Amino acid sequence: MTSILVLNGPNLNLLGTRQPEIYGSTTLADIEAMCHDTAKTIGVSVTFEQNNVEGAMVDLIHAARGTQDGIILNAGAYTHTSVALMDAVSSVEIPTIELHLSNIHAREEFRHTSYIAKVALGVICGFGAHGYVLALEAMAQHLKSKK
Ligand code: DQA
Repeated sequence: MTSILVLNGPNLNLLGTRQPEIYGSTTLADIEAMCHDTAKTIGVSVTFEQNNVEGAMVDLIHAARGTQDGIILNAGAYTHTSVALMDAVSSVEIPTIELHLSNIHAREEFRHTSYIAKVALGVICGFGAHGYVLALEAMAQHLKSKK
């Protein structure tokens, strides 16, 4: 079965209470449940992770090699700063979709830069928690077209 890693970065563990006017009131546990429901519907398996530490995220991306067919990556603020995460994504050669709850292009200037986008298959942002469903569907479709 097709396996997809959904990897969440710093501060996303606080979803639900963190700036709900920007990120909504859905918790990360709700999003995880949504991902598992979507996975069941579209016939893929999902591994859901969150980590606040950049190096730990690099390790999780490395560990995906040989075990995961695709990665959905909400790298949080590391999106805008992390050459290490960008290099990890290009090193493992696993198709990766960059994801954000908010529309980063409609926010502060520093959020308009993404190191992840440079190596990503595509980018989904601005659709709140539903973006995770969209990203899983897009990844499943992409992987199917490559078989
Ligand atoms: C975010 C957007 C980032 O700019 C921010 O640092 C986050 C969340 C999003 O999902 O909208 O932590 O990745």
